[in-house]
Amino acid sequence: MTSTTPTASTGENAPVDPTTTDAWAALGRVKEGFRPDLRAWFADDPGRAQRYTFQAADLTVDLSKNLLTDEILQALLQLAQDVDVAGRYRAMISGEHINVTEDRAVLHTALRRPESGDVEPAKPFEVDGQDIDRDVHGVLHKVADFANAVRSGSWTGVTGKRVATVVNIGIGGSDLGPVMVYEALKPYVQEGLEVRFVSNIDPSDVYEKTHDLDPETTLFIVASKTFGTLETLTNARLARQWLWEGLAKAGAIEDTDESRRGAVSKHFVAVSTALDKVQAFGIDPDNAFGFWDWVGGRYSVDSAIGTSVAIAVGPDRFAEFLAGFHAIDEHMRTAPLEQNVPVLMGLLNVWYTNFLDAQTHAVLPYTQYLHRFPAYLQQLTMESNGKSVRWDGSPVVTDTGEVFWGEPGTNGQHAFYQLIHQGTRLIPADFITVANPPHPLKDQVGDGGAVQPGTDVHALFLANFFAQTKALAFGKTADEVRAEGTAEKVVTARVFSGNRPTTSIIAPALTPSVVGQLIALYEHIVFTEGTVWGIDSFDQWGVELGKKLAQEITPAVTGDADALEQQDPSTKSLIRRYLELRE
Ligand code: F6P
Repeated sequence: MTSTTPTASTGENAPVDPTTTDAWAALGRVKEGFRPDLRAWFADDPGRAQRYTFQAADLTVDLSKNLLTDEILQALLQLAQDVDVAGRYRAMISGEHINVTEDRAVLHTALRRPESGDVEPAKPFEVDGQDIDRDVHGVLHKVADFANAVRSGSWTGVTGKRVATVVNIGIGGSDLGPVMVYEALKPYVQEGLEVRFVSNIDPSDVYEKTHDLDPETTLFIVASKTFGTLETLTNARLARQWLWEGLAKAGAIEDTDESRRGAVSKHFVAVSTALDKVQAFGIDPDNAFGFWDWVGGRYSVDSAIGTSVAIAVGPDRFAEFLAGFHAIDEHMRTAPLEQNVPVLMGLLNVWYTNFLDAQTHAVLPYTQYLHRFPAYLQQLTMESNGKSVRWDGSPVVTDTGEVFWGEPGTNGQHAFYQLIHQGTRLIPADFITVANPPHPLKDQVGDGGAVQPGTDVHALFLANFFAQTKALAFGKTADEVRAEGTAEKVVTARVFSGNRPTTSIIAPALTPSVVGQLIALYEHIVFTEGTVWGIDSFDQWGVELGKKLAQEITPAVTGDADALEQQDPSTKSLIRRYLELRE
């Protein structure tokens, strides 16, 4: 990535106000009377599809069905230069404290630096007195050894049985990343191993995930960056109680402290930056995997937080996963802005959000294995960029942060696509798919259905992917509807306006590397938008107030009449109603 006008948009320096730039003014002028016409744009420009299709590692990214012209693109690229996306990215990967409100470096990119070979910043890479590569690879080796031990059966439970089920207990970044990647890489999971995920403090979650398990073959991973999160610690205690009770019932442990401690040491491990708190919980520090405060929770699946994934798919596959991230990091660092896919996608989001009034962004994976990807992206994008002050504490000068949402195709087609096709809102959508499914099933001879004998069902699936992006882009005119013999009174209802923007992302297959590439792609999209908006994408103060109030309200909910009296009228009456209903 090259930058011609570095403006040092890092640290505590005031961010560039993007709205004062010539590029912003140019975009504003384009927006006036903007009449997108993808039909005409493609008809008049036979090279459009090729010109707007880019490659980033294994990802082929077609931006041509976006509401994008060369004039818009030039202005967006100028904007990226004016706010110095490249300079800020360099600052981030070098370990500058760009997370100013927490005074921290932001170094998730360091989690996937290769152990050997040249890399930027060059080795030895020291930040705030820490040898980053030594520590990162030290933990990765420890995770790999542990994963191998569990996979081979050399690590056993307290009764000598090998582990059959790993239960990851965590929430937010300590859950969404591991569960999404585990689901994405299901075809690579070792036979005989299953991973489950407990996150919600609703007791139903831990119950449902444990009640049918055998404590003797269950391993819990308590994953919490802070090791202070109410949900995770409560669930960890519930799980420990379940373990002790189950083992005691089976006669596997004695009713003694020593016996219980022995059980925890074989059935509980932890991942955290707070190893002292791990020990206080009763987990042996030898069974703990560390990471560092410069890894944000939502950026942590490639740290030891991914231990459950490393166990499930094995350390070699986990290494490929990390290599996928690194490939996109390198693309982000080195590709010129005009071919830099995360930058281009981030800039497009700015165009839609700040100029075309889009408020939401759909992510539509056409691969069932990515079914948790939209949920994962919700934390990554919205916890990062849902901010109203900039990194110097001043108010933002534009709207920030889109609402990300989505479901896998084709399920979404039969649910909310109606609104994307014909609703009144502009909803940019990312369509993501792979050419080669792990299970390339063919449809059998039917009994008269539309599907022909021997149809490759993945091809059928992808026909939907291509059809949807085509319909969204090019729509259907009233004349085309009439030409089908449609009665005049329903013609308007059957018109599709088209010009509904989509990005198509196609990879060869959903390999560990490709999953890493997709995550890094969106991390850097978020980064690009955050830089334009001048916000610290790496803090999350907005989740604190609710957590604090939950602690204050707990006595009122559990029967303290004075605490109940102190609540506001609405909250008080709701709690009273709850107490009346509670049996
Ligand atoms: O929801 C806020 C948050 O701090 C997230 O950023 C984080 O991923 C999650 O809570 C879990 O935190 P921890 O890993 O410290 O338990």
